[in-house]
Amino acid sequence: MILVYPEFNAANANELSKNLGFQSSIEVKTRVFPNGEVLARLSRTDTIAGNDVCIFFSTYPNTNTRLQLLYQTLETLNYYGAREISLILPYLSYSRQDKRFLEGEALSLKLIIDFLKSLNVSNLLTVNPHNKDALLQFSKGMKITIIDVFNELVSSALKLIGNDAVLVAPDMGRCDDVKRLGEALNITHVCLEKRRDRVTGEVTISLKNVFDINGKKVLIVDDEISTGGTISKAAKLLKKLGAKHVYVAAIHLLLVKNAVDRLNKAGISAIFGTNTISNPYSILKVEPLIAKSLSTI
Ligand code: R5P
Repeated sequence: MILVYPEFNAANANELSKNLGFQSSIEVKTRVFPNGEVLARLSRTDTIAGNDVCIFFSTYPNTNTRLQLLYQTLETLNYYGAREISLILPYLSYSRQDKRFLEGEALSLKLIIDFLKSLNVSNLLTVNPHNKDALLQFSKGMKITIIDVFNELVSSALKLIGNDAVLVAPDMGRCDDVKRLGEALNITHVCLEKRRDRVTGEVTISLKNVFDINGKKVLIVDDEISTGGTISKAAKLLKKLGAKHVYVAAIHLLLVKNAVDRLNKAGISAIFGTNTISNPYSILKVEPLIAKSLSTI
């Protein structure tokens, strides 16, 4: 199998290769034209014909440009005769637009999956997508491998802050994950309820069931932190209810604009995450876990 990666993922590709042998690798170079259009160019195209390929591609930051580069990479691999194409998207961009929340909105997650299918991706591997069920529903005909790293991330965070923390889901979407983690790790867990006004974007958070958080150490667990709005609101509520320390562990740390500032101001003592997106708060490398999963395909 040949490993294909864009130049901005060279370090990840190197890490993946340390954990899984590939017959060779191909780097995708990027050219940006003055009008903003981009062009992908693959090296060593003579090695492609008749071989299985595995692409590692981060689609964040610069999501829309990177998605275009990904489609161009796939088009080129098809042109040069790649056999089976496996695609690793450590973070699945657009996965929060998994339904038409408002009349007339596009269903972007489905559109991306449709593009990947039409470009002959047979296996898609991704780390903890926002909504697993929606992904599985849209991807019929393509094999999906979901790499669940919640257990590894939360266990690593607990090693740093101590096992006496309460696990908190910031919304009902994460409640099942937190319940499963709490039961597996034998840790108290509780769920918050989040409501988002789909027009204004205004978020309100409340405690789902009566629970005494006073004086406790809390670890909020989520799939991603984007603007930090959700976690800030949750942290403020938990602090108001008397939590002594509030930490957060999230798989995908997008941390857009002033998210870290917002989290600090809301009283978050530490942020823990993975390296699905490059960031300074990663305590877990996902490449060994991806390699393990890939070796079974
Ligand atoms: C939403 O349901 C997700 O699980 C995250 O809680 C959310 O996307 C985080 O976004 P933000 O950081 O902008 O609140």
